Amino acid sequence: MASAAGFGAAVVHWQRSHGRHGLPWQGSRDPYRVWLSEVMLQQTQVTTVLDYYRRFLARFPNVQALAAATLDEVYAMWSGLGYYSRARNLHRCAQAVVAEHGGRFPPASAELALLPGIGRSTAAAIAAFCFGERAAILDGNVKRVLTRWLGFDGDLSAAAPQRALWAAAEGLLPVADIDRYTQGLMDLGATVCLARRPLCAECPVAAGCAARCQGDPERYPVKTRRLQRGRRSHALLWLQQGDSLWLTRRPEKGVWAGLWSLPEYPTLDAVHETTAQWPGQGQALPVIEHVLTHFDWTLQPLRWVLPARLAAPRRAAIESALPTGRWLSCEEALQSGLPAPLRKLLVTA
Ligand code: ADE
Repeated sequence: MASAAGFGAAVVHWQRSHGRHGLPWQGSRDPYRVWLSEVMLQQTQVTTVLDYYRRFLARFPNVQALAAATLDEVYAMWSGLGYYSRARNLHRCAQAVVAEHGGRFPPASAELALLPGIGRSTAAAIAAFCFGERAAILDGNVKRVLTRWLGFDGDLSAAAPQRALWAAAEGLLPVADIDRYTQGLMDLGATVCLARRPLCAECPVAAGCAARCQGDPERYPVKTRRLQRGRRSHALLWLQQGDSLWLTRRPEKGVWAGLWSLPEYPTLDAVHETTAQWPGQGQALPVIEHVLTHFDWTLQPLRWVLPARLAAPRRAAIESALPTGRWLSCEEALQSGLPAPLRKLLVTA
């Protein structure tokens, strides 16, 4: 069984009876639908993606509709899914497909991988699902499945072992049924070959699995440079006058890149300093704890309500002390691409 052909056949056979079926993107060979699902699924679980996928497709039914939208409209449909660079790249990619490929996704993984936001593994998944191309995928879940089965103990923080694993993944590709094999590997990684306590008793390739034979599957994949999680804290100014809020555009790099947000300050003291001479009154709101891949982020919001009437020079002086932005009504703010924790803050506070 510990042969490439045996591995592929077992994965394909298992997917038929035990893999995931009936997901909305599975019935389609339309690259637009498959691409959208793969990008959404890159960092988000299937159960969360389902609803977003349906709404996104209803709003942008094809690549032309997505390319013609504004980035804010795309952010608004993405709000809550996180990792917003995906939304930005999705929009850029749609525009590139329309402008450079006549509105049709190129039918080969090598060309797909040149488009914004489509890495090698995503390109391979789209090409396998839509065009039956024999291309290897290697996302985080699949790295776990393959390093364990192969007993591959190269350090995946380094480039050479990464390359070697890609080559091994290509060597395992079956001759036929590439779409089912690709889905099967994803399903194995998501439901059986779990990071902690893998369900080896349910695994179709357990008999030939090196890691299982060694008795410690969790040892794989080997990565010496583990992510160092950090902690950050900032304060947010929720400045309100009547029904209007002052929102700023986040920088193009970093967390919530490009989204509308409340102005951010290093500390609550810095917000107090800014608001010290302003009319109206302030109130510190409960902190928001937001967990990101690289760090835990504590956000301390302060809500400052200005009087309903303000002389124009006074208002101008306040605006000049704020980071560049604009007044939006609460409803407009909720309809723009606002990060989910801030949306929740505005709705519940
Ligand atoms: N994760 C990434 N791609 C997927 C897919 N096509 N189905 C289920 N989970 C996935």
